[in-house]
Amino acid sequence: MSLIETKNLTHYFGGLKAVGDFNLKIEAGELVGLIGPNGAGKTTVFNLVTGAYHASEGQIIFAGENIVGKAPHEITTMGISRTFQTIRLWNEMTVLDNIKVAQHGHIHYDLKDIFLQLPRYRSQERAIETQAMDMLKLFNLVSYAQQPAKNLPYGQQRRVEIVRALASRPKLLLLDEPAAGMNPQEIEELMVFIQSIRSEFDLTIWLIEHQMRLVMNICERITVLDFGETIAEGKPEAIQSNPKVIEAYLGVEDEEII
Ligand SMILES: Nc1ncnc2c1ncn2[C@@H]1O[C@H](COP(=O)(O)OP(=O)(O)O)[C@@H](O)[C@H]1O
Ligand SMILES: [Mg+2]
Repeated sequence: MSLIETKNLTHYFGGLKAVGDFNLKIEAGELVGLIGPNGAGKTTVFNLVTGAYHASEGQIIFAGENIVGKAPHEITTMGISRTFQTIRLWNEMTVLDNIKVAQHGHIHYDLKDIFLQLPRYRSQERAIETQAMDMLKLFNLVSYAQQPAKNLPYGQQRRVEIVRALASRPKLLLLDEPAAGMNPQEIEELMVFIQSIRSEFDLTIWLIEHQMRLVMNICERITVLDFGETIAEGKPEAIQSNPKVIEAYLGVEDEEII
């Protein structure tokens, strides 16, 4: 059984078909890419998978269950986590608190516990803090733990976002343009980082990216969207030389395919 499978996934915004008949199977452990010009529908696919939008038509089967119609927090608890195209850290909060908040899905106490500072609350709070610090240690981010997120260099903020996404212990990690705004050195480090978390956390990774070097280097398989339609699917080498893909990117100056 595939970890995730979309069947005829379709989504309309009013009269606009943002995603049409999107069919994809991803097996556990794969690292696959989703590319296409701006407005192709890539982020919409992720928003459908994470429950931010409910698909107009079609199914999303995750670990054997159709998740269309489920709330985002239910989907996170089932094992899907994501990062966003633009950084969405809580800027004023410390890096540690940014990670702790993400572990919310695994907390089991209610408000009464918090007000009364009951032992269950206190021990869970301690466990969360310890786990969050462990994550920061693992990724060499401990020195930033008490800093407001906004004080970190851009590349490190992007790393914190990925670490935060890992805090909910996902099986499937969705990365929406993780290299956006990064310099070449940061992109090199990101490639190593993505591959290392995949093996260390037993992850399946599905990523959207404009940086062709990154996509072609680390993705095993790529799907290409254009105006919501899948125009190509296959290994990086085949995608790079596919005439339909080249045509879709023609005239798009900032999205060099080769
Ligand atoms: N919330 C929304 N409401 C209306 N239209 C949207 C919304 N989100 C995306 N779109 C439209 O859907 C299409 C696909 O957008 P998107 O999935 O963000 O593309 P991509 O991520 O590939 O750049 C675009 O035409 C975009 O303008
Ligand atoms: Mg997008």
